Amino acid sequence: TEPSEKMASFWVDRYLYPLRLCDDALRDVMARFQAEMVKGLGRDTNPTAAVKMLPSFVRSLPDGSEKGDFLAVDLGGSQFRAHQVKVFADGKQSSQLESKVYPTPKEVTEGNGAELFDYIADCLSDFMETKNLKHKKLPLGFTFSFPCKQTKLEEGVLLAWTKHFKVRGVQDTDVVSSLRRALQKHKDIDVDVLALVNDTVGTMMTCGYDDQRCEVGLIIGTGTNACYMEEMRHISLVEGDEGRMCINTEWGAFGDDGALDDLRTEFDRELDLGSLNPGKQLFEKMISSLYLGELVRLILLKMTKEGLLFNGKVSTSLLTKGKIEMKHVSAMEKDKEGLSNTKEILTDLNLFPSEEDCVAVQHVCTIVSFRSANLCAAALAAILTRLRENKKLLRMRTTVGIDGGLYKTHPKYAGRLHKAVRRLVPTCDVRFVLSAGGSGRGAALVTAVAHRLAAQRRRLHAALSPFLLPLAVLRDVRDSMRAELEYGLKRETQGKATVKMLPTYVCGTPDGTEKGKFLALDLGGTNFRVLLVKIKSGRRRSVQMYNKIFAIPLEIMQGTGEELFDHIVQCIADFLEYMGIKGARLPLGFTFSFPCRQASIDKVRTAAQNGFRWQLCVCLVKSYHPVLVISFLLGTGSNVCYMEDMKNIEIVEGNEGKMCINTEWGAFGDNGCIDHIRTKYDREVDEGSLNPGKQRYEKMTSGMYLGEIVRQILIDLTKQGLLFRGQISESLRKRGIFETKFLSQIESDRLALLQVRRVLRQLGLDSTCDDSIIVKEVCGVVSTRAARLCGAGLAAVLEKKRENRGVERLQITVGVDGTLYKLHPHFSRVLQETVKELAPQCDVTFMLSEDGSGKGAALITAVAKRLHNVGQK
Ligand code: BG6
Ligand code: GLC
Repeated sequence: TEPSEKMASFWVDRYLYPLRLCDDALRDVMARFQAEMVKGLGRDTNPTAAVKMLPSFVRSLPDGSEKGDFLAVDLGGSQFRAHQVKVFADGKQSSQLESKVYPTPKEVTEGNGAELFDYIADCLSDFMETKNLKHKKLPLGFTFSFPCKQTKLEEGVLLAWTKHFKVRGVQDTDVVSSLRRALQKHKDIDVDVLALVNDTVGTMMTCGYDDQRCEVGLIIGTGTNACYMEEMRHISLVEGDEGRMCINTEWGAFGDDGALDDLRTEFDRELDLGSLNPGKQLFEKMISSLYLGELVRLILLKMTKEGLLFNGKVSTSLLTKGKIEMKHVSAMEKDKEGLSNTKEILTDLNLFPSEEDCVAVQHVCTIVSFRSANLCAAALAAILTRLRENKKLLRMRTTVGIDGGLYKTHPKYAGRLHKAVRRLVPTCDVRFVLSAGGSGRGAALVTAVAHRLAAQRRRLHAALSPFLLPLAVLRDVRDSMRAELEYGLKRETQGKATVKMLPTYVCGTPDGTEKGKFLALDLGGTNFRVLLVKIKSGRRRSVQMYNKIFAIPLEIMQGTGEELFDHIVQCIADFLEYMGIKGARLPLGFTFSFPCRQASIDKVRTAAQNGFRWQLCVCLVKSYHPVLVISFLLGTGSNVCYMEDMKNIEIVEGNEGKMCINTEWGAFGDNGCIDHIRTKYDREVDEGSLNPGKQRYEKMTSGMYLGEIVRQILIDLTKQGLLFRGQISESLRKRGIFETKFLSQIESDRLALLQVRRVLRQLGLDSTCDDSIIVKEVCGVVSTRAARLCGAGLAAVLEKKRENRGVERLQITVGVDGTLYKLHPHFSRVLQETVKELAPQCDVTFMLSEDGSGKGAALITAVAKRLHNVGQK
C-alpha cells in the first residue's frame, strides 16, 4: 500500500472505531442475547421482552416418511415466490421444487391489507394455472417472514411489520384467515392453508430434510432472524412439557429496549430515524442487507462533509436515501477485482473518486459488513450455547441452516461469520448448510409433517381411546364388583363365584396387647423372606424386625410341593442359625400370596395349580393399626382383604364378630363381565400368560402385567409405522421387559424426554424424541386405566363396608402395599381421585404399609396366640 492509502485507512479507522467490535465485546453481546432469550421465554418477563421468542408450533423435523404434493408461498424476503413441492417417501429424502417469482411493488408492500392478500391469491391462482394444478385440492404452507404470534400452526397474528413492508389494517389480525378469505374468492382453486411459518423456520426445515442434525434456521438477507429447537419445558407460553418446539426468536428486535445503545453509533441512530419503523428492529438495522448500503452511505456522507473524502464534494447521490445498496457493498469488497469495482460504482454515483477515496470507501464497506457478520455470530453463539446446555452436553455437533441474500452473495460474509462463531463457541462443531431452493420447500415440508402427524394422531388415538374409561363405565365396573363380592359370600352362589371371597379365619386385628417373639415367612412376591419379629406391648409398644431374603431356584419354584416346602424349612433352619437361636420354638405366620381355601387359621389348601404357577396375590391383613379394616395390595399382583361381618359370611359357621375376607378380586371378570372393556392388547397379554383366561382384572391392574400391555401396544403401533421407524426390535419382542420400575421412571414428571430415551435405550429400544413422547403417552393411559379400575373395585368394597355399618358417611383407613402403588408417580393419586368420585360417602385415609406383609403375618400370629390364650382361659 502507498503511504497515502495507509493514511486514508488510518483516518478511516479512527473514524470508524465505534463500529469495530473485538471478541470481548462480542462475548458481551452474546451474554446479553442469552439473557434476552431467557426473558422472552418466561411467562412473566415476556410481555416486556424486546426479543419475543415466538413459539412456532413446529415440533417435529421431517423424518423422511412425508409424501405428496404441496404448495407454498414465500412472502417477506427480497423475492415473492410461489412453489410447488413434490415430496417423495422413497428413503432418499427427495423432493422436487418448481417456483415462480412475482414482483412486489410499493403499492403492495405499503398499501392496504385486502389488496395484499388479494394479490397473493391472484399470484397463486396464476401459478396453479401455469402448473396445471387448478381443480386439485392441495395443502399450502405460507412462509410469512414477519413476527407473528401463533397459538397453532395454522394461525398467526401479525405483531408488527418489519423491513420494507408497511401494509395498513393487517397488524393484530390473523394473516391465515385473511389469506383464506382471499383464496375463497377464487372459485377455480381449492387450497387448504395448513401451516404458517417464518422464513427461518422454513429454512431450518429445508436444511433439516437433508441433514437430520439441523436444529437452527438463520436468515441474513433483507432482514435477519434465527429460529432453533427449544425444549418444551422451557417454553412457558405453551402448554405441555414434552419434546421440543421451534422458537422464532425475532432477534431483529434485540436492542429495542435500549440493550444495545452503547454499541449503536450516530449512523445507526440516523438510519433508524429515516426508516419505516423508527425505534424498532435495532439489531436488524445493524446487520441486514436492507440497511447495510444505507449505513455505508450515511458514513460516506458524513466523512465527505468533514472533508475526508471526495475533496469534500457532497454529490446528490450521497444525499439520496437508498442510493447505495447491499449489492454495491458486496461488489466493492471483492478483493480480486482490486479497486476497479469500487471505482466503477462510485463513478456511477457521480462521486469521481481518487485512488485514496476508493481505498477508504472499500474500508468503510469492510468495517460495516464485518460488524454485521460479527453481531450475527454473537447472537448465533448464544443460541448454540443454549442448545448445548439444554442437551447437557460439554461438546455438541449441530447444523445451522442458512438463507438470505447477504450471506449468499457477499464475497466474504459467510467466511467471517463461520470464523467468528467458531471462536465464540469452541465447544460446538457447527456445520453451516445453505438452504437449497429457499424456505418454500421447508414450508411445504412443515405442511407435509402436519399432514402426516394429523394422520398419525388419529391412528394413535384409535389405539389408545379404548383405555380411556369414562366415569359411567367405571360406575358399572364398581357395581359389577359389588355384585361379585356378594356372590362370593352367599352359600348358593359361592361355588360359581369368580371373586372367591375366601375366609381367612383371621378374626381380630391387633389391639396392642400382643407381645412376644414370632417367626414369619413371606412367599409369593418378588422375594422370599424369613423374618423374626419381636413385639412389645403396653406403654413401650414396639415391633422389631429382622429378616433375610432367600432365593428360590426356578426348578424348585416350578417343581413339586414337597421340594418347595423342604426348601422353605431349610431356609428357616438357616435363618435361625443366622440369628443365633438355632432350635428355638416359636409361633410362625406364613404370608402365602396365592389363593387358598382355608378351613381354619392354620389349615390351608391351595387351589391346586401347578407348582409355583399360581396367581400372585397377597391375602393377609398387614398393618398394626387399630382402625384398619381394609387392606389393599398392588404390586406384582392385585388384591384386597377386609373385615366382613360373620353374619354375612354364609360359608363359615357363626354370626358373631368379624372375619377377614381375602377377596381374591384379581379373578374379577373371569366370567366375562368386564370383557367389554378389555382391549385386544389385554387379550394378547392374557393369551401369552401362564394362566390364560384367569385373573382378568388383575391382568388389567397389576404391575406384573401393565408392562406387558404397554409392550403389546408398542408392538402394534410399531407395526402401524407409528413408532421406532416401523422396526420391531429384538428387545421389544422380549416378554417382561417393562418392569414396574421402568414404567414408574418413564412416567415421572421430572424426567426430561432425553432421560426417557435413556431408559428406553437401557431396555434396548432406540427411540427418537417423538417415539419417546408416544411411549410415555402409552404408559400413561395404561397405568391410569389400572388406577381407575382399582379405584372402582375399591369403591365397591368401601360401599359394602359402609352399608354393613349402616352409616351415612364412612370414615375408614385403607392399608396399602405394593411397588406399583408406592413407586409409581401418579398411580396413587389417580386411584384416590377415582375412589372419591365413585364412593363419595366414604372418607378414606390411605396408609402405606412400610414393612411388607411379613410383619403382618407375625402380628396375625400374635393375635391368634392372644385369642387362643383367651379361649383357653
Ligand atoms: C429466501 C427464502 O431464499 O431467502 C425466503 O426463501 C427468505 O423465505 C429469504 O425470506 C431471505 O433472504 P432475502 O435476501 O431474500 O431477504
Ligand atoms: C425480519 C422479520 C423476521 C424475518 C426476518 C428475515 O426480521 O421480522 O420475521 O425472519 O426479517 O426475513
